[in-house]
Amino acid sequence: MILTVLGAAAGGGVPQWNCACRNCSLARAGDLPRMTQSSVAVSLDGTGWVVLNASPDIRAQLAAPRFAPQGLRGSPVKGVVVTNADVDHIAGLLSLREGTGFDLWASAETHAVLAASPVFGVLSEVVLRRDMTLDEGFNPIPGLTVTPFAVPGKVALFLEAEQGADHRMGGQTVGLEITGGGKRVLYIPGCASLPDWLLDRIEGADVLFFDGTVFHDDEMIREGVGAKTGARMGHVAIGGAGGTLERLSGRRVGRKILIHINNTNPILRPGSPERAAVTAAGWDIALDGMEIAA
Ligand code: MLT
Ligand code: MN
Ligand code: ZN
Repeated sequence: MILTVLGAAAGGGVPQWNCACRNCSLARAGDLPRMTQSSVAVSLDGTGWVVLNASPDIRAQLAAPRFAPQGLRGSPVKGVVVTNADVDHIAGLLSLREGTGFDLWASAETHAVLAASPVFGVLSEVVLRRDMTLDEGFNPIPGLTVTPFAVPGKVALFLEAEQGADHRMGGQTVGLEITGGGKRVLYIPGCASLPDWLLDRIEGADVLFFDGTVFHDDEMIREGVGAKTGARMGHVAIGGAGGTLERLSGRRVGRKILIHINNTNPILRPGSPERAAVTAAGWDIALDGMEIAA
């Protein structure tokens, strides 16, 4: 299995257009790598691809030579799988409207969000809206099985007024288990907490991509850019009590990679104690263009 990180950042990217926090300023100055928004592409043989989440940056992400059409029109991207209805995971669908078919896999909850917004009607009828059912595997390309499962999360930001911002379990936030070529990969870009059952599900994976939004739960407040905690946004912190490093310590995982990294996150800065802590715990930090052969 080939996994390529199309976008390693959380919503906003690095630098975020309206942000001059430490990391965004460093990236603007060329002193930190720029990162586009949250997406991974998966293939078995490099000919057909499945894109996990359609980021607002997808047009640029799919401009890479490996995604070039084979003929006059077409794409090696055969499917798009969406893990929630956050803007950073669905807005890119609007850039895939030019009449080439693919399967759009999403939960009933996420399909309902897309159906309720007339702007997604621009997607051509050759884009097949396919339901993914929790805990049932499907084959977006031959030989690759994707099984969605509910993880703790909340509804998308734009639904909070209507539905509340509490953490809940269901089709609104899913993780993906991807198997093929004898390997098992987990992609969980958004997750509000790490209960024991989820640690058990992760155990033994060959590759884990996990929610790296914030290191400190109060990081946006510390950086002076916002009032929300990671928990309030539905993202478990990497550090601290009950955080990802602590919860996954001692669990057997082939390769652990933090992804969906917010621009406030100190792990992006070389020499930060937070970066040293994640590295010491055996985690990698995703970067745009990172490629993993599982
Ligand atoms: C998130 O991951 O928390 C969301 O992408 C936030 C947002 O929609 O701005
Ligand atoms: Mn996000
Ligand atoms: Zn910033």
